[in-house]
Amino acid sequence: MPSWSRKLIFVTGGSSGIGLEIARIAARQGADVWLVARRREVLATALEQVRVLAVRSDQRFGVLSVDLSKSEETFPALARTIAQTGVPDVLVNAAGAAHPGYVEQLDPAIFRWMMDANYFSTVHAVQAVLPGMIARRSGHIINISSAAGFLGVFGYTAYGASKFAVAGFSEALRAEMKRYHIQVSIAYPSDTKTPQLDYENQFKPPETKAISGNSAPLEARQVADAIVRQAQAGHYAIFTSFDMRLVYLLNKLLPKALVFAILDAMAGRSTHAT
Ligand SMILES: NC(=O)c1ccc[n+]([C@@H]2O[C@H](COP(=O)([O-])OP(=O)(O)OC[C@H]3O[C@@H](n4cnc5c(N)ncnc54)[C@H](OP(=O)(O)O)[C@@H]3O)[C@@H](O)[C@H]2O)c1
Repeated sequence: MPSWSRKLIFVTGGSSGIGLEIARIAARQGADVWLVARRREVLATALEQVRVLAVRSDQRFGVLSVDLSKSEETFPALARTIAQTGVPDVLVNAAGAAHPGYVEQLDPAIFRWMMDANYFSTVHAVQAVLPGMIARRSGHIINISSAAGFLGVFGYTAYGASKFAVAGFSEALRAEMKRYHIQVSIAYPSDTKTPQLDYENQFKPPETKAISGNSAPLEARQVADAIVRQAQAGHYAIFTSFDMRLVYLLNKLLPKALVFAILDAMAGRSTHAT
């Protein structure tokens, strides 16, 4: 199995949750690791947690504080980092956010925020590293979507649309990058114990909770392990549980009317459903 030993890995959203766990795995494999997010103090704490896992004395680590949803900040900031570190071998786009709710109650600003945090942050980070990867004719970009990025899930009009956008972007990107030997992967994580899940749980309508069911969320480390393992094995679509892989396949194979009937029945299990 290939490893990230001596590779340079940029992890957006690397200060928390799934991104932080991916960064920790990269450090344990002997990679140079840069964490990218907005909050400096959270980045500093995460950096210490990642740095202690170094397996070589010359392993390099760093952070970049930037709002990836803003192209005018992201491009110069990543260009300065790349001038210092070199072009990353791997870009993991784990920056993101989730805010569910009934569509008629969601402020339009939430729709914009979801696209900014999940879609534009991914696009900007990719566009910032691509010229270097294309010139070098190598690289691996790992984007993160969600089940809400291939299924229309009750309560996720804003979040789901942004994750569908990540999925569409990633498919077209894969097609374009093949000629430069740049690999693209997209992960569809199951519910994972992270600050994002704690945040979104406050806003989930009962129907959304009914669809999530009673299955316990996975540990971030377990999810990160699955993502890194499947990415290193060269998979395009990455799943962090058997259930998620099955749902993805059934959604592709079953008639849409049947998929909708199943989702509607699941949402209907909530007491609030009409
Ligand atoms: N947790 C789940 O159940 C789950 C399931 C499916 C998919 N996902 C996806 O997996 C990815 C990681 O999620 P997570 O649960 O690990 O979330 P998390 O623990 O809340 O971490 C989110 C990270 O993104 C950063 N971030 C957010 N907005 C940013 C911006 N505009 N610019 C730069 N950095 C930004 C955050 O740092 P700052 O706030 O300091 O910027 C933080 O480092 C997300 O794309 C999420 O949608 C999660």
